[in-house]
Formats: sequence, C-alpha cells, structure tokens
Amino acid sequence: MKNQRVLILDFGGQYNQLIARRVREWNVYCEVAPYTIPIAEIQKRDPIGIIFTGGPNSVTEKGAPSVDPALLELGIPVLGLCYGCQLMAKLCGGEVGSAPVKEFGKTLAQFDRSSPLFRDLPQEGAVWMSHNDYIRRLPEGFRSVAQTADCPVAAMENPERRLFGMQYHPEVNHTENGLQMLRGFLFDVCGARGDWTMGSYASQAIEEVRQKVGGGKVLLALSGGVDSSVCAALLSQAIGEQLTCIFVDTGLMRKDEGDEVERAFKTMPIRFVRVSAADHFLGKLGGVTDPELKRRIIGEEFIRVFEQEAKKIGAVDYLAQGTIYPDVIESGAGDAATIKSHHNVGGLPDTIGFKAIIEPLRLLFKDEVRTLGTELGLPDYLVWRQPFPGPGLAVRVLGEITEEKLAILREADAIFREEVAKAGLERSIGQYFAVLTDMRSVGVMGDGRTYDYTLALRAVNTTDFMTADWVRLPYEVLDRTSIRIVNEVGRINRIVYDVTSKPPATIEWE
Ligand code: XMP
Repeated sequence: MKNQRVLILDFGGQYNQLIARRVREWNVYCEVAPYTIPIAEIQKRDPIGIIFTGGPNSVTEKGAPSVDPALLELGIPVLGLCYGCQLMAKLCGGEVGSAPVKEFGKTLAQFDRSSPLFRDLPQEGAVWMSHNDYIRRLPEGFRSVAQTADCPVAAMENPERRLFGMQYHPEVNHTENGLQMLRGFLFDVCGARGDWTMGSYASQAIEEVRQKVGGGKVLLALSGGVDSSVCAALLSQAIGEQLTCIFVDTGLMRKDEGDEVERAFKTMPIRFVRVSAADHFLGKLGGVTDPELKRRIIGEEFIRVFEQEAKKIGAVDYLAQGTIYPDVIESGAGDAATIKSHHNVGGLPDTIGFKAIIEPLRLLFKDEVRTLGTELGLPDYLVWRQPFPGPGLAVRVLGEITEEKLAILREADAIFREEVAKAGLERSIGQYFAVLTDMRSVGVMGDGRTYDYTLALRAVNTTDFMTADWVRLPYEVLDRTSIRIVNEVGRINRIVYDVTSKPPATIEWE
C-alpha cells in the first residue's frame, strides 16, 4: 500500500529538517523538495498537503524565492510557515512589509479556537517568533486566527481554499502545543491517516530490495555504527546470504566493541567477515602525532584492507550504504544518486566493480533508523550507539598512539559510560567520551609521588554537530567516575572535565 505523503518546500530556513521530523512524528510520510520543483512534478508526487518552510529572505526583495501562484490553485491544502506564510499572503494579494516591532524568541499569542489549527488547544500560549517583516494587510478571503501584542497576523487561514499560515515556528519546542497545531493541519485539513510506521516501512523496503537485487550479490562495509548496522539487519532479512558484510576491526574501537558487533551479526543469515587488522593499523600509525595525518592514514588503510577483502569475495553487483535522509537533503534536491563518502570511513573504493548502490535507509531520519533497528531485532547496544568517529580512539589518544595508551583509554572510557548509564542519562546526552591527553603531572597516591597522565571527560549535546553545548553533568556522576578511574585504571592521576562548547572548541579533541 502506498503511503500518503506531504511535500515540504524548502525556502532555506534553519528548521526545515525539523519540520519534516515533526510531520513524521505524527506517522505521516513527508519529503523535502527545493521550492523550485515544477508543478507537474508536485502533481506527480500526489501530496495530501504542502508546507512552505521559513527562509532567510524577505518576500519584499526583488528576486526573493517564490513559487508559481498556480500552486495555490491546485486544491491541495498548503501551510506556510514564517517566510512561507508571508509568501502565501503576498501571492494571494495581501501586503507584506517591514514590521514596526520585530519579534525574536518566545512571544505570547492568542488563538482563535474555531480554526482547525487550534481546535481543543488553550486560547493563549507562547510561540517562537523570528521575523523582521509582517503581514500588513491580509489577502482577500483570509482572516487572522492568532495575534501577539505586536503582530496582528500571527496565523491566518482561508478554509475554503484550504490555505493556512503561521508567522511563528510551530516545529520548535519553544512553541507550546506546536506539534498539536501541525496535527490540526495534517489530520483535520489534509485528511492524513497516520499510515507511516517503521513496521510498514520495513516490509516495503525489504520487498523493494528483493526486486532490485534479484539473485545478485551485495557488499556492505559495516562499521558497527547505527546506520550501517540497521542497513545490514534490513538487508539480511531481504536477501540473506546474498549479502556480505565486511567489518574492518581497526583495533581503534572502544572496549568490547568489536566483539559486540560480531556477536550481533554472527547469528544473522548473512556472510559476515571480521577483519582483525589492529596490528596493521597500529604499525602504520607508529610515531605519528599529527591529527590530520592520523586521519589520512586510517582512511587510506581502511580502503586498502576493505579492497583486499572484497577481492576475495569476487564480483559483486551492488554496494550497499547506510545513507540517511539528512545526507540526501544536504546533497541537494533529494537526489543522492552520487556516491557519498561513507560517514564513518571517509570514502569507499570505486575500484570494486559494482552496478549500482543501494541505500535502503535513504528516506529515514536518525530517530526513525533507531526505531527500525529495534523493529528488526537489533540489540539496544547497537541501536542506541552514540556517534563515533571513523578514526576511532586514534583521535582520542592525543599525540603518539601506543597499545598501552589505547588500553588505558579503553578502560577509562568504559567506566565513564557505565557511570552515565547508571545515572540513567545514557539516552539524553548526545555524545560523551574520555580523552587521554598527552600531558603528565605530579600526584600523590598512598605515600608515593606519581607522575602520570591527565584524562579528560567530555559530554556534549548537539542537534546538527556543527554546534554543540557541553553538558552540565551532575557532580555526583563526575565524582564517581573520577574516583573509579583513578582507582581502577593505572597510569592516570588527574581527571578534568571539558567545559567548552563548539565553537570555539570541536567535539573531538583532535
Ligand atoms: P568535531 O570534532 O568536528 O566532530 O566537532 C563532529 C562530529 O563528527 C564526529 N567526527 C568524525 N566522524 N570521521 C567520522 O566519521 C571523522 O574523522 C570524525 N571526526 C569527528 C565527532 O565524533 C562528532 O560526532
């Protein structure tokens, strides 16, 4: 059965992916497309509704992003948000101009509860505003259904034409009941059924893979990260032993990680190859201290090892990748036909001959990938794995990498993760890990003087990895972690907590 779909036209706003995620939270499938998409293509996709996103421009500028006004005559319900709302007003004959009072941030609004956007919601609530322009005069046939002290048209509607707009951002958490307002548009206006579930996605995707692959062979580089793991689980259900997964164990993973990956995939009816290449990687990294050089060596060696193993398997027809929807959107126009460099390993070889790429997760957001992973029976330790850099612990052991330093870091990092988990914070922190600095300092243990390493703990929250905020971890968690590490792992006599955000720091230390 085909899913209903909503089309989101992207005008370049910063929350566009968030809008798509919110729509999907209501189990409604949606796609993001550039605002330049031709009307004929929109009709072909047959959406039950269209959302215009916000954007950085002003509709009053010459050449500002716009759409063919005929789009508003198709009879398909449209919801304009922020810039999208102003654009709708302008295209329908209203007037948009510079607002006498600009609104930024949380603002109190009053709602008209006879509108399907606000039915059953409180009459008053905070909304998240971010605009310089405002709707000065409503287009004919429209009425204002929400107001703030400085904005007479915080939301508008023309129910006959099924056109709606919100000046604020219902998709961000700061807007109270924003999700419910989107629900009003999706279900009460567009007639959504909420038919998008990961169970139905899995069976559809499995069927599609079977049809595409036929009796062919598929190769997947499995890193043990969430995306490639879920991709492997899905493919294993679709094509079983036609799939070969190559897992290159660089020896730079966290404690027990290589075994965990093997344990999860050994039992699946696929061909699983674990290449234990720790000595090889450590050999190549000997004496190297420059972070970029470390990355380059690991990237190049990874490809070499992968290629060698792939050759042993012989000709393959398809290369599978765990590309997910944010990568597709970012690569432009929802067209990910080009081979993206793999998230975790930085560029897979194109010297292995294959006919095409398959990307069974390319329509999913990260949270959906996790739900799907659970649906497919993957263990929590894989599904909820935090992001881990391709070069692994090599960029968390500062300076020269040695077997001994790696072993110290692995133990310390495992204790930190255990303590965070014990405090129940595991899923609420984006990324947290330990870093073994190259610095040593003086300490005292028992009656003796020590001269040992300083370990740093880092925990950050981030939505896009471009910026990140350091996490205010409870002192008790830091305290327990610190005491345990110093007592249980040798060679560390000082522990510091990283209280810098990104920017100016990066998430990793190297
Ligand atoms: P930074 O340190 O640049 O990290 O703030 C942003 C995010 O990317 C991860 N990261 C990497 N991932 N290969 C990867 O696949 C890499 O070389 C790499 N370096 C950093 C990092 O863990 C964080 O999630």
